[in-house]
Amino acid sequence: MMNIAKFGIFKRVFIILILVVMNGCNSTKTSNEKVVTNEELYRPNFHFTPKSGWMNDPNGMFFYKGLYHLCFQHYPNDNVWGPMHWGHATSKDMITWKEEKIALYPDEMGYIFSGGSVVDVNNTSGFGSLKNPPIVAMFTYHDAVKAKTGAIDFQSQAIAYSLDEGMTWTKYKNNPVIKNPNIKDFRDPKITWDAIHNQWIMVLAADVETIIYRSSNLIDWELASGFGKNLGAHGAPWECPDFFPIKVEGSTEMKWVLLQSINPGGPNGGSATQYFVGDFDGKTFTLDNSFAQDLNKFEALWVDYGKDNYAGVTWSNIPDSDGRKLFIGWMSNWQYAEKVPTEKWRSAMTIPRELKLINTEGHYRIVSLPVKELEKYISKTIKKDLLTIDNTTVIVDKSTLDMSSLDIRFTMNGLKDDNYDFILSNKENNAIHFGINKKDKYFYIDRKKVSQTTFSDVFANKISKAPITTDFNSIEVRVIIDKTSIEVFYDNGKTVMTEIYFSDKPMDSFSIVKSNSDFELKNVMINQLKSK
Ligand code: FRU
Repeated sequence: MMNIAKFGIFKRVFIILILVVMNGCNSTKTSNEKVVTNEELYRPNFHFTPKSGWMNDPNGMFFYKGLYHLCFQHYPNDNVWGPMHWGHATSKDMITWKEEKIALYPDEMGYIFSGGSVVDVNNTSGFGSLKNPPIVAMFTYHDAVKAKTGAIDFQSQAIAYSLDEGMTWTKYKNNPVIKNPNIKDFRDPKITWDAIHNQWIMVLAADVETIIYRSSNLIDWELASGFGKNLGAHGAPWECPDFFPIKVEGSTEMKWVLLQSINPGGPNGGSATQYFVGDFDGKTFTLDNSFAQDLNKFEALWVDYGKDNYAGVTWSNIPDSDGRKLFIGWMSNWQYAEKVPTEKWRSAMTIPRELKLINTEGHYRIVSLPVKELEKYISKTIKKDLLTIDNTTVIVDKSTLDMSSLDIRFTMNGLKDDNYDFILSNKENNAIHFGINKKDKYFYIDRKKVSQTTFSDVFANKISKAPITTDFNSIEVRVIIDKTSIEVFYDNGKTVMTEIYFSDKPMDSFSIVKSNSDFELKNVMINQLKSK
C-alpha cells in the first residue's frame, strides 16, 4: 500500500496539461503508420483496465443473473494511490467489461479498502427479501485521519448492501460491524457461504495471520480462529485472504484452500499470493498432513511466481451447475505500480483464471488456466505440427498475425538438462524471454531487454524464476500475450508466471532459440485474439 499523494487543484490542472503534452510527444507509429499515443500502445485489448485513474486490488466479486461483477480499489482523481473507492465493472464473460458507476465512495469513517461481496440468497441479513435477495459487500474502513495520529486501531470492518443487483449500494447504518481490537494491519474481509457447516465465514488479514470469523446473518460476527502465524512466507503484513472449499480433481475429496497475499515477500520480490491447503471443521483451519509432517521444511506455495499477480481472489455465487472457482488478480506489484509508464490510467487485472486443486503423488497443488470464455475471442489459428529448430527459429511473426494479442500453446518433448528459451521481440531490439532452464531447475521470464524499464530499479533488475520441483521430459505450455503482459502457464498451469512490460514499439515476432540438445516442439497452436 502506498502513501497518499496530495495535489492542489492548480497543481493538478498543471500536471494534466503536462501529461497531455507529454502524451502527444510519446506517440509512436505502428506498422500501418497510424500514430498511436502511449495510452493506446499500452492499454491491453482484453484485460480489464479502468477508463482513467488508479486501480489496485480486485474487490467484491460476485456473479448474479448472468453478470460477473468486479469491483476494484480505485482512486478516480489521480493515477497514483489515494483515498480509496470501489470502482465497479460488469461482464457477461469476464473478458469484455463495462465500467459502471463507482460502487462505494470514501466517507467520514474512512477510505473503502479491499473486501468481498456475496449474494445473500436466503436474506439472512434481512436487508432485502427472498424475492429480491440483497447483495452484501464487506470492506475495511481505513481511517486515514486517525492513522496520522499514531493510533493503531484505524482499520475496522463494515458492510453495505445493494437491492438492485449490485448497481447502487447503501452503507449499513450501524457500521462498523467489527471494531478494531488494537491490531494495526486489520483488513480485507472476504466472505464465503460455507454450505458444509451452514454458515457464513469471513477471513481477514490481521498483521501476520489470517483470522476466521463466522456469522449467521452477515452482521454479527464471531471470532472462530487464527491461522498461519508461523507458516508460509512472513516478514511483511498479510493482505487480501480468500478461503473456500474445493473438490480435488478426479475424486470426491473436499479440501479447503486459503489464498493469502503478502507484500513484500513474494518469490521474485514485492507483492505475491501464497496458498495453503487443508481441512476446516467449521471453526479451525488445519494445514493438510501432507504438508504438516515437517513444518520446519514447509515452503510457501505461490498462486503465481511472476511479479505481477497480487491480491487475487475468487468470485462468489458461481452457480453449482457451473461449479468453477474463478479467480482474478491485480496485474502489478507495489514495488513499481505507481511508476509504470501509463498516464491516464494505471494497472490492469490478470486474465480471469479457473483454479483447480490436484493431488499429484501425495502433494496438493493449485493449477490455474485462463477461463474457457477467452476462446470465443480467437479470430485466427495457425497450427504447426512438428518444428525443426535451427539457431533462432521464428515460430510466427507479424506477416501472418497481429502479434499484440495471442494465445500460444505447444508441447515440448525429449527435454534434457538444458535451457529452452522463447523470445517475443521486435526489430527495435525489444525482447521478452521466457522458458525452461531444466539444467538449473527453474522456469523464467526475463523482461530486462524491453525499452521501458528505468522507471523503477526493481522492475527488470533480475530474471524472475519459479522452481522446477519434479522431473519431466515432456511439458505443455500456454502463453497469453496482450500488448503489455505475458502470462505463462507452464505444465498445464501447475506453475504460472505473470509479468507486465512496456515496449515502445509493438512486438512483431515470436521465436525459439536452439538448445544444445535436440528436442521436439510439437502441436504448436497460435491463436490470434481479436482486439476489441
Ligand atoms: C493490498 C492492499 C490491501 C488494502 C488495499 C488498499 O494491495 O494494501 O491490503 O485493503 O490495498 O488500497
